[in-house]
Amino acid sequence: MSLHITPSGKTFAAVVREIDLRNPLSASQVEEIEQALADYGVLSFPNQPLNDDQQQVFIERFGPPSLVTLAELKTANSAHPHFFDVSTVEDDGAQIDPESARGMYLRANLLWHTDGSQAQPPIRLTALSARQLPPEPPDTEYADMRAAYDALSDATKAQIEDLKAEHSIFYSRAKMGMKMSDFTADAMSKRPPVIHPLVRSNPRTGRKSLYLASHASHVIGMPLEAGRALIEELTEHATRPQFVYSHKWHPYELVMWDDSWTMHRAVPYSGTHPRVLRWSGVREVAPV
Ligand SMILES: [Fe+2]
Repeated sequence: MSLHITPSGKTFAAVVREIDLRNPLSASQVEEIEQALADYGVLSFPNQPLNDDQQQVFIERFGPPSLVTLAELKTANSAHPHFFDVSTVEDDGAQIDPESARGMYLRANLLWHTDGSQAQPPIRLTALSARQLPPEPPDTEYADMRAAYDALSDATKAQIEDLKAEHSIFYSRAKMGMKMSDFTADAMSKRPPVIHPLVRSNPRTGRKSLYLASHASHVIGMPLEAGRALIEELTEHATRPQFVYSHKWHPYELVMWDDSWTMHRAVPYSGTHPRVLRWSGVREVAPV
């Protein structure tokens, strides 16, 4: 049976029904989801009460799962080193201290970012499983970097066509007040800065998109401040309301997105009801 896909945003995003992600996906289902990711960028699958093993099997159908290497994000779930929790609570149920390393690290999710752009190869896909939600969960916002690219002037498109930016996890975390001393030497040695193009093309659709993130520090070959200003200007452009889809979460939903042509950010949440979204990602198989 083919998937039932209903567009949910203005220019991208869709809801996918007629599939039970607890069962291993067939090759044709994987292909349909890959095509839907190329077409819509952000897919929500309602009512998918996955356990960890099922989420692991699901994510591995799309490529090599991304290993979570930062100690700040590790949960107690050592059986699944590819997961961490985008959470308001520690594993023992206590509220995460916003000033702790984990709290500050997760707070950086409030910045517009692309998962794993600080790595080479970067992350290609992310899947978040809603394990626990408050009665009124905060949205997650997504930006359509393809529509944003299309709306650029021809002069800007020509200017950025061959530009590359340096991405570093420490750059995005410094924006949230973290200091180098907040990271272990081991974490820093595992995360050297990497370089990616500002413009990418989707291999399925051929459409171009901006590739930006809070991790994008500066532009190679441009004076530091001019490169930073260009990245900020493009980010402001790409996150204007006409390019943004706000996702409203439902219990046991799985939301999957293509990191190559979308950006996202968390919306602030200060409630006391726990929220736990279990994160998993798939890496690109070659450098970008
Ligand atoms: Fe993220």
